[in-house]
Amino acid sequence: MQIQRLVDLEDYEFDTLLVTYNHKNRLSIELGKVSEIFNVLTEDGLVGGSKVYGLRGKDFSYQGQPYYNLIFIGIPENASPRKYQLQFGAAVKEARKLKGRNLLMTAIGDDVSFWLSSAMKGILLGDYTFDKYHFEKEERPEINLGILTGVDQASFKKEVQYSRMLAESVILARDLVNEPANIMTPAALADAARAVCEKNNIKFSVLEKEDCEAMGMNSFLSVAKGSKQPPKFIVMEYNGRATDDEKIALVGKGICFDSGGYNLKPDKAMKGMHGDMGGAAAVIGAIGAIAQAKLGINVTAIVPACENMVSGKAAKPGDIVQSMNGKYIEVVNTDAEGRMALVDAITYAIRQCNATTVIDVATLTGACVVALGDRYTGVFSNSDDLTAKLVQASIIAGENIWRLPLGGDEYAELNKSSVADIANCGTKCGAIAAARFLAEFVERKPWIHMDIAGSSESDADTQIYAEGGTGAAVMTLYELVKIMEKPYKSY
Ligand code: BES
Ligand code: MN
Ligand code: ZN
Repeated sequence: MQIQRLVDLEDYEFDTLLVTYNHKNRLSIELGKVSEIFNVLTEDGLVGGSKVYGLRGKDFSYQGQPYYNLIFIGIPENASPRKYQLQFGAAVKEARKLKGRNLLMTAIGDDVSFWLSSAMKGILLGDYTFDKYHFEKEERPEINLGILTGVDQASFKKEVQYSRMLAESVILARDLVNEPANIMTPAALADAARAVCEKNNIKFSVLEKEDCEAMGMNSFLSVAKGSKQPPKFIVMEYNGRATDDEKIALVGKGICFDSGGYNLKPDKAMKGMHGDMGGAAAVIGAIGAIAQAKLGINVTAIVPACENMVSGKAAKPGDIVQSMNGKYIEVVNTDAEGRMALVDAITYAIRQCNATTVIDVATLTGACVVALGDRYTGVFSNSDDLTAKLVQASIIAGENIWRLPLGGDEYAELNKSSVADIANCGTKCGAIAAARFLAEFVERKPWIHMDIAGSSESDADTQIYAEGGTGAAVMTLYELVKIMEKPYKSY
């Protein structure tokens, strides 16, 4: 998508006009015809509030130029960055429906710097599709976006660059999630990570199965055992401030297919489990953006990648394995595999990479989906301070998160095992039990766990979403790292 700054309309022929209106039904562009049409639509209840409504006409014109589509975008009072994204995402989908190719919007007023990048991110994300596996493709001409604005050229360019970079990182994560498991194997995921590293000057390495064995990663390896696909333990190191001892580890669950193992998932639950590497996709996308923006901070992304399969070699319920940390884990349920892979990655982050802060992202529990649905990421943390930063980051990023409790002493028994140090699952509070399991391995480092089991995929084509991967957490991770960068620099 081309995005260009316009100071007048002389060189831009548009066919679709995007017009926002506020909670008082005031239009951003007051023109005789547009206002007239808007008033009729208001009476019919087709616009108002947060409604996005498009119509196709023949005789609309603006400053002497003919155009064909008119799209009204409701912006409620005190709209958040997320709301702007959603509304403009809906608008671009409407423009597609109306076969618009050259869009025109205005960005004029005191608050433009607050919302312009959100609008652009919304438009870029809203226009995403994954049609790689349609031999017969629907025709989809590229959309051009012209923005009539008083923002100066340099600031505008920065806004476009920033919005595009983040949207592209989210889209990369979506693509990785949307690839089926026969394509996006652990090796293919490692290749995708390598490509991001090569493009952005990030140090890349992979620990093969033997390397993981030598490290004592028996917890991770117990998950990988049942599959023909060899596991890959992916490490991406971005050193944006080599003189600093602080290092953030971003650990992403990279289960390329989760059959459940011997605790086999029933058919409905197994569907979509090629997307069980959504956490991996998020950290790969985020570190790409962090490196591209050259943030002055050290970040290492770590992805334990493997498949959770059934075979004569697979882990069995009741198996006991020793993690890299030393703790013995009872595999009560082979379907609680994500946490098994993650804990060795967390130990690696702390002991081998000297991470001072650990953030993990994982499609970890169905229980989180039950609690929060598919538009909120569940967050657990041992640090109020770090969580406050994450909340701030998520607001800027326009992603929904919700903190859930670890439960302190009251839930101390959740993962209790009578035969080993810890069991890999409990019998109640599934999302909390999983988070508490991870907490046992963070060695008192400030830590956040993001459960994206729900938010990682969308079941509908709407607003900024397309059916399938959402790229959840990419933008929030980027903004968090930016907040943690010292001294604070704006992009
Ligand atoms: N990958 C699943 C969690 C999941 C569920 C992700 C739905 C996306 C959508 C995870 O590995 C899993 O199977 N969790 C189990 C844990 C249980 C066996 C303790 C679950 O949540 O049912
Ligand atoms: Mn599972
Ligand atoms: Zn899983």
